[in-house]
Amino acid sequence: MKIILTEDAEQAAEQVAAVILARLAAKPDLVLGLATGSTPIGVYRRLREAHARGEADFSRVRTFNLDEYLDLAPDHPQSYHHFMRVHLFEGVNVPAEHVRFPPSQGDGLLARCEAYELAIREAGGIDLQLLGIGRNGHIGFNEPTSSLASRTRIKTLTQRTLEDNARFYAPGEEQPVLASTMGIGTILDAREILLQAHGAKKASAVRAMVEGPVSAFFPASALQLHPRVTAFLDPDASRLLTLREYYGQAATYSRRLRTEGRL
Ligand code: GLP
Repeated sequence: MKIILTEDAEQAAEQVAAVILARLAAKPDLVLGLATGSTPIGVYRRLREAHARGEADFSRVRTFNLDEYLDLAPDHPQSYHHFMRVHLFEGVNVPAEHVRFPPSQGDGLLARCEAYELAIREAGGIDLQLLGIGRNGHIGFNEPTSSLASRTRIKTLTQRTLEDNARFYAPGEEQPVLASTMGIGTILDAREILLQAHGAKKASAVRAMVEGPVSAFFPASALQLHPRVTAFLDPDASRLLTLREYYGQAATYSRRLRTEGRL
């Protein structure tokens, strides 16, 4: 896993957005796997700004979101459909028919989860997957003990995840306990993965993801099995890493080789 130690969350967002824009320039029909939560908001703002400046054309891009709460209407303020509309889709030109979410309404959910997997394959697979991380190590809504080979399906959220997300709901408002999510196997199929983590509350999760054993009990540790993951960490999120200094040095050497055109 490549670790990038950034000065702050803003610099991380700048760097992640720059990678996405570079991949888009190289492949106009890029297939993006998209994440929600507070972490990627700065990245999405930069993508909207790049589009507004005429520097990024999303007309051939296809997107697959990681997850969605079960039974939240797409216009519910806490739904990920709503989140994506507000933070990204209203400000870029991804055609509506190119935007996909795992099924979250109605019946036949498992068959439709399989159809979601098929749609990803038919699109040619995900080129670039964005990720955040939950404090218990979840990626998407793959909670602890999710199979490391799991595919898109319905998951029950843990108490900890419900508590972490309770801040978005009004007191007394019903909070969904179920969600549909890409599986860990689905995520690992992406050609490249960019993960961001900001803030002290993510520090122990980041340590377990980067330096802990690979374990279904800590789903993000599965990313150690992927050949092309970059984790962008702010100082608070990286502060518990045992080899923090080494990661900084490694990034410097790799930058040097790249600058010299030797990679
Ligand atoms: C939710 C999402 C995850 C996200 C996580 C962290 O549970 N399903 O995809 O990574 O929250 O959220 P935040 O970025 O707000 O810390």
